[in-house]
Amino acid sequence: MNPGYALFGLPNGNGMGFVERGVRVTVIEMEGGCPLHGEIVLQGSKNAVLPMIAASILCTGVTVIHNCPVIDDVKCMMKLLRKLGCRTELTGHTLSIDTTDIIQETLEENAVKEVRASVLFMGSLLGRTGSAGLCFPGGCSIGKRPINYHLDAFEKMGIDINIMDEQINCKTAKLCGAKITLDFPSVGATENIILAAVLAKGVTQIKNTAREPEIVDFCRFLRNMGARIYGAGTKNIVIYGVKKLHPIEYTVCDDRIAMATYGLLIAGTGGNLVLHTKERQTENDIRILACTGCRLCVKNTALIIKQKKRVRPVDFIKTSPYPGFPTDVQSLLMTVLTKADGKSILEENIFENRYHTVSELIKLGANIKVKGNRVTIYGVGELRGKNIRANDLRGGAALVIAGLMAEGQTKLEHAKYIARGYEDMTDKLQNIGAKIKSGSE
Ligand code: UD1
Repeated sequence: MNPGYALFGLPNGNGMGFVERGVRVTVIEMEGGCPLHGEIVLQGSKNAVLPMIAASILCTGVTVIHNCPVIDDVKCMMKLLRKLGCRTELTGHTLSIDTTDIIQETLEENAVKEVRASVLFMGSLLGRTGSAGLCFPGGCSIGKRPINYHLDAFEKMGIDINIMDEQINCKTAKLCGAKITLDFPSVGATENIILAAVLAKGVTQIKNTAREPEIVDFCRFLRNMGARIYGAGTKNIVIYGVKKLHPIEYTVCDDRIAMATYGLLIAGTGGNLVLHTKERQTENDIRILACTGCRLCVKNTALIIKQKKRVRPVDFIKTSPYPGFPTDVQSLLMTVLTKADGKSILEENIFENRYHTVSELIKLGANIKVKGNRVTIYGVGELRGKNIRANDLRGGAALVIAGLMAEGQTKLEHAKYIARGYEDMTDKLQNIGAKIKSGSE
């Protein structure tokens, strides 16, 4: 961690209650306008590890997951595992889950509402016990986020579903394979169906599945456990149910959204970043960063990002399921484009409430017009620091980028969302020279 420079002219411990590691961050203060230089070690993937945590209960014994990101969503999933009767331990980046005893099949409201991925315990509880009780899951306020695809598929697999108020109770005497076609390639539905199918009797065929790299990694994890899954990464996945799975040790893939976040930060602030990754980066991931005009170089497993010039505008980018442009990167890119040398247009096609960030960027001096699911961003020469507020995980990270791009001081409130998906973000940014501090109010 950086030694405590005097942020905003105040010494450390200025009465705002700046936090130690592990304490909930609710506010981030920044002084922006400087290029950043240094190195960051990329975290393991949030969206890959969460379904793996749910999958751990499909077998009996101790599953060990390496490269696990230390983030609030993981801690919430660990809490849910303990409620089910499992023992969990997170040491460094190694998560151990002992699933020998499952003492209950129902998860209560508060814990489930804290993390969207809790819905995945439905598929895995059904596989393990034939019964699952959960309320509708939580997560960020980026859209309605229904789970009708999950439930429709479960019904086809011989599961009785009973919904009372907010509670969903699922039960089956015989979990059966089925032919399922998704109306939309939903990531969560694809994962939940796979979780239910790996121990079902017979064959499950899923058409129009999500093809995200996290799904590919998740299926690799399940195959190592003994599952028979074919076609991960394509639009058609076939699963042959097996009788039993076994515990494994596994290393989670890199977090490509965190990679885009730190890369876009450099695109916006200028500077030079070496991002240390576990794997060599894909063309697709690099393309996302290259569109802003920054220079990229891949050296073995390090990605070097340099930005010397003003951000390049983009003609038109629309979000769509993988391999399209990720919705999770939309607000991050929009933020960087606020200072581009010209006009850019973005279109959001996955979640209906993903423009929360616009009003906050406008407070900093951005010129953005929203029309339906499209935004037009007219690049300005300068952003100016102000008090702003985060509304969701990726939007929160986008506003940290905005604060570091802006001249002067920015205070970001409701910053608690960021820790749901980013490990030690403020420490990492301090280490590359950012004037940033997190605190609790
Ligand atoms: C996952 C990711 C999230 C990412 C999103 C889209 C995790 C933990 N989260 O979320 O970071 O932004 O994919 O890439 O992996 N839908 C329905 N009915 C359903 C399910 C989904 O209508 O039963 C709709 C949603 O409202 C949304 C779209 O399908 O409009 C995509 O949602 P989905 O892919 O399921 O997102 P999540 O799995 O929740």
